[in-house]
Amino acid sequence: MELSNKVAIITGGASGLGLATAEAYVSRGARVAIFDLNAEQGEAVAARLGAGALFARVNVADEASVQAGIAQVMAKFGAIHIAVNCAGIGSAMRTVGKNGPHSLEVFSKVITVNLVGTFNVARLAAAEMQKNEGLGDNERGVIINTASVAAFDGQIGQVAYSASKGAVVGMTLPMARDLAAIGVRVNTIAPGIFNTPLMNAAPDTVKMPLIEMTQFPKRLGHPDEYAKLAVHIVENSFLNGETIRIDGAIRMAPK
Ligand SMILES: NC(=O)c1ccc[n+]([C@@H]2O[C@H](COP(=O)([O-])OP(=O)(O)OC[C@H]3O[C@@H](n4cnc5c(N)ncnc54)[C@H](O)[C@@H]3O)[C@@H](O)[C@H]2O)c1
Repeated sequence: MELSNKVAIITGGASGLGLATAEAYVSRGARVAIFDLNAEQGEAVAARLGAGALFARVNVADEASVQAGIAQVMAKFGAIHIAVNCAGIGSAMRTVGKNGPHSLEVFSKVITVNLVGTFNVARLAAAEMQKNEGLGDNERGVIINTASVAAFDGQIGQVAYSASKGAVVGMTLPMARDLAAIGVRVNTIAPGIFNTPLMNAAPDTVKMPLIEMTQFPKRLGHPDEYAKLAVHIVENSFLNGETIRIDGAIRMAPK
C-alpha cells in the first residue's frame, strides 16, 4: 500500500517512535491521527505537522476513548487505512524483590496499556478498515504493533513488560489470520534500544550496558530508523504475520 493519501492512526504519536513515524508518514503524503494521553505534546505535534494531522486525547486501554478517537478520525478524514501502535509504558520490578512480591497492580497496568491497549486499537481500527475499497490484492489496511526485544530476552526486573510484549508478538500471527479475510495485514516491530524520551529517562548505569550489548552500530537506535521500517511495512504488501527485530543485533543479558 502506498502511503500517499492514506489515513494512519498512530498511538503514542506525541513522542519517540510514534512521533518519528507520524513525521515520516506525513512527509510521504499520508494524513495522521495522533492518539496519545499527553495532550500538550500531542496538540503541538499535530499543529506542527499541519492540516494533514489531528490530535485526539485517547487512552488506548479504554474502549470508549478509542471509539471516540476513531469517530474523530472518520469525521475529519473519512477512512482509516493504517494503525501503528506505539503507545506503551515500561516498568522495573522483580517477581520478588527487597520489598516483597511484585505489585499485582503494576503488573496489571503494564499488561493493560501495552497488550490490551494494542489489541483494543487494532480491533476497532480493523473494523473501520474493512469498509475501505480494496486496493491491489484487495488490500484494505495495515496494522503495525510495537513489541520489544524484551519479548524474547527480557532482563531482571522486566517480567511485566516482557510479558506484555511477548503477548503482542504472540497475537501477531493469529490477528493476521483473522484479518486476512478482510485484506488487512498485521506485523509487529520489536525494537532494541532507541533514543527516545522513554529510554532517555533511564540513568546511564542502565543505558551504557545496553549500548555495550548492542553489536553494531554501537549506539542507541534513532527513532527515524524505526519509522523507516514502519514505512516499509506499509509499502511491502507481502509482509504479513511477522515480528521484525530492529536492534543492532542486541541480545540482552540478564542485567
Ligand atoms: N525506546 C526504546 O528503546 C524502546 C525499545 C523497545 C520497545 N519500545 C516500545 O516502543 C513504544 C514507543 O516507545 P517510545 O520509546 O517512543 O516511548 P515514549 O515514552 O517516548 O512514547 C510513548 C507515548 O505513549 C503515550 N502513552 C502512554 N500510555 C498511553 C495510553 N494509555 N494511551 C495513549 N497514549 C499513551 C505517552 O504519552 C507517550 O507519548 C512503546 O510501546 C515501547 O514499549 C521502545
